[in-house]
Amino acid sequence: MSRKYIIAGNWKMNKTVSESVVLAGEIVSKAKEIKNTEVVIAPTYLAAAKVADVIKGSNVKLALQDIHWKDQGAFTGKVSVDMAKEIGAEYIIIGHSEQRQFFHETDETVNLKVKKTLSAGLKPIICVGETLEERNGGKLESVLSAQVEGAYKDVSKEDALKTVIAYEPVWAIGTGVVATDAQAQDTQKFVRSVVSRIYGAEVAESVQIQYGGSMKPDNAAGLLAQKDIDGGLIGGAALKSDQFFSIFSAAEKLG
Ligand code: PGA
Repeated sequence: MSRKYIIAGNWKMNKTVSESVVLAGEIVSKAKEIKNTEVVIAPTYLAAAKVADVIKGSNVKLALQDIHWKDQGAFTGKVSVDMAKEIGAEYIIIGHSEQRQFFHETDETVNLKVKKTLSAGLKPIICVGETLEERNGGKLESVLSAQVEGAYKDVSKEDALKTVIAYEPVWAIGTGVVATDAQAQDTQKFVRSVVSRIYGAEVAESVQIQYGGSMKPDNAAGLLAQKDIDGGLIGGAALKSDQFFSIFSAAEKLG
């Protein structure tokens, strides 16, 4: 497969700064032998600068869990993409279902954040995914199309090549219920077809599409072996270095 695997740990609102430093250090040492897989961690904002120091010079990359689309100003509680860039973040997770569900994220704000991230030379990890209700109601394809099309509105082909998509069925996030390999593959393939509809087959074939939602050491290899699954966005299992290691080494073996 020409697409490189990308395994990203989304730590969400977990780990204090000192705990984050320890976890990042463990991941750096476990990732030493990893050559062909992109390993990324997304600590809290508070821990990000310290984690950046810990991973400096290693092959572990830094992501932030979100950014605001404005450059600076009176936006209490937010951080800008330049702040992310200054500490060495390379990726920004955008449009996570928890942002959509609890913090008023819409396809429009996702799009503003995607464009801002790209304009700063960082790479967005764009999260899309349907609820169980939407899937059962026959809306899977329309929901995913709208999310993907919304995220990429006015994004050039060149910039689209620098993006990563994370397909995360909302019903699989943090629930322990994982999509079957076939269910995930079918949906990932559909997401790629939407990218192809917008940008053509060449871009669609090179954009990495991660799966997210209860990816664990025991199901990672099966999921990652699917043709259209190019990595994982990992929540719970990214909080323990041995579990996260099992997942990125599964990718490394397949890569
Ligand atoms: P989970 O979270 O692995 O705990 O299901 C995934 C995510 O929300 O990115």
